[in-house]
Amino acid sequence: MILVTGGAGYIGSVTTNVLLSRGENVVILDNLSRGHRLALPTSAPFYEGDIGDRQLLRRITSEHQVDACIHFAALAYVGESVVDPARYFHNNVEQGIRLLDGLIEDNVKQLVFSSTCATYGEPQTIPISEDHPQKPTNPYGWSKLFMERIMESYDQAYGLKFVALRYFNACGAAGPVGEDHDPETHLIPNVLRAALGKTSVVSVFGDNYPTPDGTPIRDYIHVSDLADAHVRALEHLRSGGKSERINLGNGHGYSVLEVIETARQVTGKPIATKIEPPRPGDPSRLVADAQYARTVLGWKPQHTELASILQSDWDWRLNHPDGYA
Ligand SMILES: NC(=O)c1ccc[n+]([C@@H]2O[C@H](COP(=O)([O-])OP(=O)(O)OC[C@H]3O[C@@H](n4cnc5c(N)ncnc54)[C@H](O)[C@@H]3O)[C@@H](O)[C@H]2O)c1
Repeated sequence: MILVTGGAGYIGSVTTNVLLSRGENVVILDNLSRGHRLALPTSAPFYEGDIGDRQLLRRITSEHQVDACIHFAALAYVGESVVDPARYFHNNVEQGIRLLDGLIEDNVKQLVFSSTCATYGEPQTIPISEDHPQKPTNPYGWSKLFMERIMESYDQAYGLKFVALRYFNACGAAGPVGEDHDPETHLIPNVLRAALGKTSVVSVFGDNYPTPDGTPIRDYIHVSDLADAHVRALEHLRSGGKSERINLGNGHGYSVLEVIETARQVTGKPIATKIEPPRPGDPSRLVADAQYARTVLGWKPQHTELASILQSDWDWRLNHPDGYA
């Protein structure tokens, strides 16, 4: 049985559906602070509560034969973490440590962890490989890097085997699950919400970056490809693999204006934009070197075309114009 924390969230619910379709048994733990009850698969037992609640975790491990954990649960807004770092460190790190302690106490020593390209900070080289220096530029990135370091120590001391998957920009929809955050800070959902007429204009933060069209370049990776990587990371651990840190990206960057232009083509809608000042700490380019994922996990993204990624989100959004509301 696999414990999925954050299984009511975006990437967690897509991954849970993939695990269930492969015949895995899954139990979900989520406090619904950011997730959606409607995103929960009905065929997996669900426990509502905090990852740091030791009694609840003990209940889950006594009621189910948990042998591995995929740990998605976290707060994940960069801007919010700058304004309220305490909330981020308590939720992602303090509660995260309690989860790890509980797992080890209950003899669950295989963990797949949601890390992020935000642990690298301002890139010194592009594409970014796993040995790039990690110097986060915000508390959210630090909270994930702290967890990586803690897992390393727990590996040495307690034999915890983990795969830290450092995602770049997750996007797209998969079957019944799409991206619905409140507030939504990610570009693609915001662009498509504007195409739907839910907002009148898309803010473009900065048009004077050292990129061909002046807007920042990001690496967009489809949520189904992320889910596939989690399944492979689990297989790696089950077959006795060592702890790893692995980038998950397409290895190809698109600028903000390229995303908006492609969205116009996919949706047939005009999509108005407004240039705003650049956001502090927003790097000009974040593109993954994802070669290592291929080597260790045999993982290769299937959704490499921006238009098809946008199309999957658009299809979902046409059926869910107000998200899960
Ligand atoms: N979306 C991205 O582009 C992206 C990129 C890099 C890393 N990540 C990481 O991937 C993970 C999943 O991201 P997402 O976009 O699906 O986020 P999400 O907000 O949709 O899902 C996170 C889930 O965790 C739950 N949660 C948060 N704190 C909790 C706690 N203390 N106890 C129990 N449940 C808790 C929330 O209710 C939510 O359902 C996060 O750890 C995030 O940091 C996401």
